[in-house]
Amino acid sequence: MSIVVFDSGIGGLSVLREARVLMPEHRFVYVADDASFPIGGWEEGALIKRLMAVFEDLVERYEPSMIIVACNTASTIILPHLRERFDFPIVGTVPAIKPAAEKTASGQISVLATPGTVQRDYTRALVSEFASHVNVRLVGAENLAELAEEFMLTGIVDDEAVAREVSECFTDRLGARTDVVVLACTHYPFLTNVFRRLAPWPVDWLNPAESIARHAQSLLPPRGEILDVQDVAEFTKGRPRAEMLRLMSGFGLKVV
Ligand code: DGL
Repeated sequence: MSIVVFDSGIGGLSVLREARVLMPEHRFVYVADDASFPIGGWEEGALIKRLMAVFEDLVERYEPSMIIVACNTASTIILPHLRERFDFPIVGTVPAIKPAAEKTASGQISVLATPGTVQRDYTRALVSEFASHVNVRLVGAENLAELAEEFMLTGIVDDEAVAREVSECFTDRLGARTDVVVLACTHYPFLTNVFRRLAPWPVDWLNPAESIARHAQSLLPPRGEILDVQDVAEFTKGRPRAEMLRLMSGFGLKVV
């Protein structure tokens, strides 16, 4: 039995790396639906249909003990459908608005996400439930997931393009400045150092990956022995280019 970690691309590796540290006794299958990437601009009905078809196929082939949806854009729309359909634990990745609202000293937080995630009812509900006492700016970044993938693969990124996407996160209301930015897309933690360098002032870039991994760990009984098995990765578009294969092998994943 395996734990399937899903994302539209390679951003979900930010969650996988934490999950593996906490659950070394499990076998992981990382799935990138790169045939759909990026999903940030997909229409909701079409996205649900696509995701359910991908998950049906994965469950049939891997019979997982758990699915971790390591993607905010997918989680904010698909979790109830998956939980209704499958009877093993489904762990989602949703914007860390509650911890950000608890953490802010200035009362100004921003949520940096894909356009899809900022539009979701799910995200709006998190704001009204947990952050009605602070100012929340929802920032939908059009190209940031793709920029993050390019950076992960080549180590190079266009600073100006990144700055354009994140500049809206920073507000200054009569001296009360944004002090927490939620990384609400699993691709973005890979750009944290770039964000820090480009930010007009220091903020806390909140990456929920470790809490997601802890939550996942709490739902599965520990297996005791550490299995000597190869974790694998698959791409829905087929065998990826050489840079991607190198990146995957750096993460200890064999592309199948
Ligand atoms: N990594 C995904 C997320 O967390 C989104 C990337 C995409 O736009 O496909 O939202």
